Amino acid sequence: MGRRVLWTFLRMHWEPKRAAYLSLGFLRYIFLLGFLTYIFSTVFSMAQLTWLVTGCSSGLGEALVRSIIARGDIAIATTRGAVCRVQHLAEIGARTYNLDVTAPQVEIDEVMDTILEENGEVDVLVNNAGYIEAGVAEESCYGSYIAQFETNFFGVVKTTQALLPHFRRKRSGTIVSMGSMCGLIGESGAAAYCSTKFALEGMHIQNHPHYEPCPTPSPSYYPTPAANTKFSALPGWHDSLRKDVAHLNIRTIIFEPGFFRTRIVHPDNVRFNSDPITDYDCVRGASQRLAKLVDGRQPGDPAKAAHVMVDVVRGEGVGCVQKGRTMPARLPIGRDAVEAMRRRCLEGLALCEEWGCVVGDTDFGG
Ligand SMILES: NC(=O)c1ccc[n+]([C@@H]2O[C@H](COP(=O)([O-])OP(=O)(O)OC[C@H]3O[C@@H](n4cnc5c(N)ncnc54)[C@H](OP(=O)(O)O)[C@@H]3O)[C@@H](O)[C@H]2O)c1
Repeated sequence: MGRRVLWTFLRMHWEPKRAAYLSLGFLRYIFLLGFLTYIFSTVFSMAQLTWLVTGCSSGLGEALVRSIIARGDIAIATTRGAVCRVQHLAEIGARTYNLDVTAPQVEIDEVMDTILEENGEVDVLVNNAGYIEAGVAEESCYGSYIAQFETNFFGVVKTTQALLPHFRRKRSGTIVSMGSMCGLIGESGAAAYCSTKFALEGMHIQNHPHYEPCPTPSPSYYPTPAANTKFSALPGWHDSLRKDVAHLNIRTIIFEPGFFRTRIVHPDNVRFNSDPITDYDCVRGASQRLAKLVDGRQPGDPAKAAHVMVDVVRGEGVGCVQKGRTMPARLPIGRDAVEAMRRRCLEGLALCEEWGCVVGDTDFGG
């Protein structure tokens, strides 16, 4: 009985041609949807990236490696000393190597060769390793400045130079360096440290809404800038690097963190290498008290900073390309760092307004 009813129903409603037409149309939509999803994901999301991070035993380096792995990317975590120092990162999937950024260039090149041989490719280099050499400007000896530059500045230069041939060969790559808010505004009692970060960073005014060039008697020498002109005041190493490698499709960015809760100002990590001068007792004392006060109480969370940095490099989340954001040349990280950059820019502009017309009138024939 049931079978007969079903058979009658099918005979009444089943039109093979129409059914075939409908299912073909349906398949066409499925195919189109799949194709569009593929195009969208290829264009708007980056493939898996391989990151190489220096100085991963603690702090921002460690947080970055965790964030990179959580994002599904590959992290090559380097540390000076034995690699067992970053065993905790190996356990979550990082590939670990020994790299002291103060080693001679030839040794750093060898480490890079090994890394490339064993991992095939690197897409992002993060120059993170750094420390603080404390000392008042006059008290800090030459050796103290040199030691600080060896790690925080020449360490970055050497590591970058070791990887650039690889980036040039493949015509792609991203170079990230860890600057500091202190490279923008300076800090008392850390002259050497601030100098290294300033050397990396420099100061950069880009399309500032308040910028108006001072009227000058020789307009040909100071042409009126186009609306999109970028002003590089006191450009540091990173700005020069950026311009040198842009045509090779190599991107650069320098992050300028404010105060983040890492081991950077821990008494075991800060090096003192200066001969005290009584006149500076108050300055030295104040900066030592500040370091003690700040240690362990910094407002910045390294994990959140790392998340933002990975977003910016990958063009995802807060750095999302679809939101119209492209990776900038530099980026302050943390409320305090944003404020420092704003203050530095406004101070510079105020200075130009107050003094520009006076000190600018110094050309021949004026
Ligand atoms: N935290 C902040 O508030 C802040 C603010 C602005 C900028 N930064 C910058 O962020 C970067 C990371 O600092 P952090 O705050 O994360 O401090 P951290 O916890 O002390 O980490 C610094 C890392 O750099 C490594 N390092 C030092 N000298 C090295 C060398 N010669 N070769 C290889 N690695 C070396 C340290 O390794 P060891 O364990 O072997 O010493 C450590 O892993 C630094 O460049 C720092 O200047 C930090």
